[in-house]
Amino acid sequence: MIVTTAQLFKVAYGKFAIGAYNINNAEQTMGLFKGCIASKAPFIIQISKGARSYTDKKMLEAIIRSAGEIFPEAIYAVHLDHGDEKTCYDCIESGFYSSVMIDASHDDFKTNVAITRRVVDKAHAKGLSVEAELGMLGGVEEDIQVEEGNACLTNPEEVEEFVKESGCDSLAAAIGTSHGAYKFKGQQSLHFNVIEAIQKKLPGFPIVMHGSSSVPKDEVARINKAGGTLDPSACGVNEEEYLPAAKLGVTKVNVDTDGRLVWTRVHREYFRDHPGEFDFRPPGKIFIEEYAKFIAHKNEKLGSAGQLEAVRDSVSK
Ligand code: G3H
Ligand code: 13P
Ligand code: ZN
Repeated sequence: MIVTTAQLFKVAYGKFAIGAYNINNAEQTMGLFKGCIASKAPFIIQISKGARSYTDKKMLEAIIRSAGEIFPEAIYAVHLDHGDEKTCYDCIESGFYSSVMIDASHDDFKTNVAITRRVVDKAHAKGLSVEAELGMLGGVEEDIQVEEGNACLTNPEEVEEFVKESGCDSLAAAIGTSHGAYKFKGQQSLHFNVIEAIQKKLPGFPIVMHGSSSVPKDEVARINKAGGTLDPSACGVNEEEYLPAAKLGVTKVNVDTDGRLVWTRVHREYFRDHPGEFDFRPPGKIFIEEYAKFIAHKNEKLGSAGQLEAVRDSVSK
């Protein structure tokens, strides 16, 4: 059942975080639904601009619709990840999405507010909610590469004005993470002081964490053992920090890179061990099962595992 993102946030806020997983194809979609059913978790499917054009946005929508029929007990929202204005409008008009993210964080404050406001007006008129970003994460976002030196944490002094002026429904905040596999030099913690300061300014308002993959060391090692050349110093967010962050209002946690690592590990190992094989279905089946396990594990760390019935009760009221 597709629900609104706001319905999920209402149950989760301050208690646990909803996993928002980027999806590009049928195998990921199957694994995602299986993993969320196994862990009894509500979830958000995120679709990036790149995902919409990888096969075709219509194909992706059809895959998700079919998964909803195969797994009727699933409860989830469908969200546009890192949208520009044009893509937001396309998703709002499509009638398929629960929410959109307008990412105008690379613009100055005033322009960010103005663009977000335009999207909010159109989205709210159709019952969708809007995530906006203030501050700038490092790493690669869609086709924009932000050098570490240009990344900047969200300034808690600006968040009240930004939310009030833009009318957005949730705030993607830069709290020390970045996109991709190379987030930190050595182990680093989230900037809990910034999260806390934002929550003080915006009590009850959902904060979104981008760049939340944990980039497991053993996953990177297995990929490299099977022929990959990832930098072994690759490092991500400590999964034990998801829940403490959730208690401070981080209600949506975005994960993409970790899922790509699962795909790469499964396929590299499979073809290393079966060099004469050329049927893609055997590794595809292994991937679906491994991705499902990975999703269930993430949901445990986010605290969303076991919350499916609480969400079902809440949405049926
Ligand atoms: O934040 C970006 C997400 O990881 C989506 O990546 O634009 O390559 O699909 P993508
Ligand atoms: P990761 O690269 O850490 O998986 O972040 C994904 C993300 O923020 C999608 O919007
Ligand atoms: Zn992101």
